[in-house]
Amino acid sequence: MNQAVGAISALVEESARYFSTLSGPGLVEVRAGLEERKDGAITPAADPAHPVVDRWLHLGLAPLARTHPALAQAIDAARPYLPWRSFNGYRMEDVGTGFMAGNAFAPIIGEDAAIATRDWELGLFLIEPHVLYRDHRHPATELYAPLTGPHGWRFGARGPLAVLDAHRPVWNAPNATHLIKAGPVPFLCLYAWTRDVNAGAEIVRAPDWAELESLRLG
Ligand SMILES: [Fe+2]
Repeated sequence: MNQAVGAISALVEESARYFSTLSGPGLVEVRAGLEERKDGAITPAADPAHPVVDRWLHLGLAPLARTHPALAQAIDAARPYLPWRSFNGYRMEDVGTGFMAGNAFAPIIGEDAAIATRDWELGLFLIEPHVLYRDHRHPATELYAPLTGPHGWRFGARGPLAVLDAHRPVWNAPNATHLIKAGPVPFLCLYAWTRDVNAGAEIVRAPDWAELESLRLG
């Protein structure tokens, strides 16, 4: 097994181990989907450099290394072999320049990922500190397993933020509106989409984005 394949394989194993420590809505479904797919053939990415990852990933991994050293080490070791990119499924005027310039994600298992599968996805998602990922929704069922925290969340397009610590999983039902406000450390999470991964996503307008974009959680 070469180094890249070994690193991705170890990350998949550590992700499965991590999900086994969590409970809450969606976890049983995500664990079953991962178990089905985790031993698929691995194709490392060819050209994975990404400025958001280069700048922020190590700052997200530092606190994770204190509580979950094997998972932090596995992410760090697999980082050069994953297909990092920015999420660009929105118009700039809808999602905002802060999010467009300040996010990166890498599918690990998925349709264009290290391990190929159909209509299911597991990956890593990174947002730079203090950036707002505005209210949005999508038909895909989604688990976020945040590896850093605290961060702000809103469920439904109005109302105050809930501030959640690391390792508090969030399950989004189809088309449930949600928002993420990154805290003082980079938002780093494992995410899983369990169906309708190609159905797109849309921003849901809210009147308080300017206020939330300037907000500092700590
Ligand atoms: Fe989402």
